[in-house]
Amino acid sequence: MKIRKPTTENFSKVSGLLSSAFPKSQFEKKLVENFHANQTPIHEWVCIHVNKVIAYIAFSNAYKGEQICGLHLAPLAVAPEFQRQGIGSELVKFALRQKQIKESPLFVLGNPEFYQRFGFRQCATPLCPFDKNNRHFLSLGNTTTDAFTVGYEPEFTNS
Ligand SMILES: CC(C)(COP(=O)(O)OP(=O)(O)OC[C@H]1O[C@@H](n2cnc3c(N)ncnc32)[C@H](O)[C@@H]1OP(=O)(O)O)[C@@H](O)C(=O)NCCC(=O)NCCS
Repeated sequence: MKIRKPTTENFSKVSGLLSSAFPKSQFEKKLVENFHANQTPIHEWVCIHVNKVIAYIAFSNAYKGEQICGLHLAPLAVAPEFQRQGIGSELVKFALRQKQIKESPLFVLGNPEFYQRFGFRQCATPLCPFDKNNRHFLSLGNTTTDAFTVGYEPEFTNS
């Protein structure tokens, strides 16, 4: 298995992967397609296995007002037939070792049990606009103490 930056040639494979990993929702697929169409600055990686995209991770800017205050991890997906084999964990750990990721406060809205394995902890502040009471909102390397609602790229509300 190789971890690479996706190329424009495999963007359609990324879309296919996101559809299969999130079969009940088109949101994640549209989100990433819109990131690519709008050339939104994101950090993203794919896992390639026998010429197939079997996993994907992306990070996009988090905002305090107009100012960048960190990165949102979203989405993370592993192809259904490859889930629960450690690939999602390997991809997260790989991303967390990359300079542009490890030097930034990180936020994720997701399963706390899964993300706590990598050091993410429940986030008291900032507040996530998509999660009442921040129940599933976690952060890593976040030292914010003042209360504000964190901003997302517009694709999160327009996808
Ligand atoms: C969630 C996801 C990215 C995890 O990737 P993965 O490669 O399957 O995960 P790993 O094999 O590295 O699993 C590590 C641990 O995470 C937990 N875990 C994995 N998938 C889980 C799930 N769907 N629900 C609850 N816990 C899960 C398990 O505790 C697992 O450990 P175990 O195998 O010893 O039980 C993947 O299952 C996926 O793409 N699911 C569908 C899309 C999705 O929900 N993405 C949301 C991410 S917020």
